[in-house]
Amino acid sequence: MKITVVGAGAVGASCAEYIAIKDFASEVVLLDIKEGFAEGKAMDLMQTASLNNFDTKITGTTNDYSKTANSSICVVTSGIPRKPGMTREELIGINAGIVKTVTSNLIKYSPETILIIVSNPMDSMTYLVHKTTDLPKNKIIGMGGALDSARFKYRLAEALNAPISDVDGMVIGGHSDVGMVPLTSNATRNSINVSEFVSKERLEKVKQDTKVGGATLTKLLGTSAWYAPGAAVSGLVQAIACDQKKMFPCSVLLDGEYGLNDLSIGVPVILGKNGIEEIVKIELSEADMKHLHESAEGVKKTNNLLAL
Ligand code: 2OP
Repeated sequence: MKITVVGAGAVGASCAEYIAIKDFASEVVLLDIKEGFAEGKAMDLMQTASLNNFDTKITGTTNDYSKTANSSICVVTSGIPRKPGMTREELIGINAGIVKTVTSNLIKYSPETILIIVSNPMDSMTYLVHKTTDLPKNKIIGMGGALDSARFKYRLAEALNAPISDVDGMVIGGHSDVGMVPLTSNATRNSINVSEFVSKERLEKVKQDTKVGGATLTKLLGTSAWYAPGAAVSGLVQAIACDQKKMFPCSVLLDGEYGLNDLSIGVPVILGKNGIEEIVKIELSEADMKHLHESAEGVKKTNNLLAL
């Protein structure tokens, strides 16, 4: 299976690396507009193959979309990342134009592809792709919730002083500092609700720390994070490529689900060979449903900034 990753920056390169290390794809094409950059990253990654035991062939190209032809899955990471103090929403002006051009070029050479959108503001970029391409809605997936849920589990494990593999939890809603809805009332440690182990106040802190997870890293790193975003994307790619039917929160176009319409926002879905196999409707507490709807308002406000 051939997979393309557009943008050979930190997120794109990490994504290619994690896909290769998991060794389920025959080929990963890295594409970037910066002359020689994707070729260099691909060569460097290929020189880890014998060390990391993978056979995935990684190649790089400077903006030649013909090299991406017949990709089953294309990941779009292109665009500018945020700088400390910036919100994801502030990137919309520049990134919307980039995402539009990139996705139309990808579809020209891979009309059957499934697209995973990572560029920020991710929910609005995903909505833009729905509005500006003819791909069916099961083939356009925004990556945010898988990353936010990983950050949530990290914070839960920290609060519970537990190994991360002991905890489980999910974040739905928009991929933004205010829009995320970490489902603390559904979070568990080995199937026991986390509220049995930590106070309400501590859980509230977990929630807040999760919501600003990306901003915290942007402040520390001077640019946005890449390891967890790359790993989260590789999880979605693997679920689709290997038809795993795994559940992830992803940004998808809603048509009445959760009482929401005409926007793309994070809700649980099943991922398999057709992309989104199903939008999963879970019971939400009254408070979480209220937060999801507030988050949707915020996403719609950002969508209004798109020149559609
Ligand atoms: C983040 O939250 C890249 O939006 C991404 O780190």
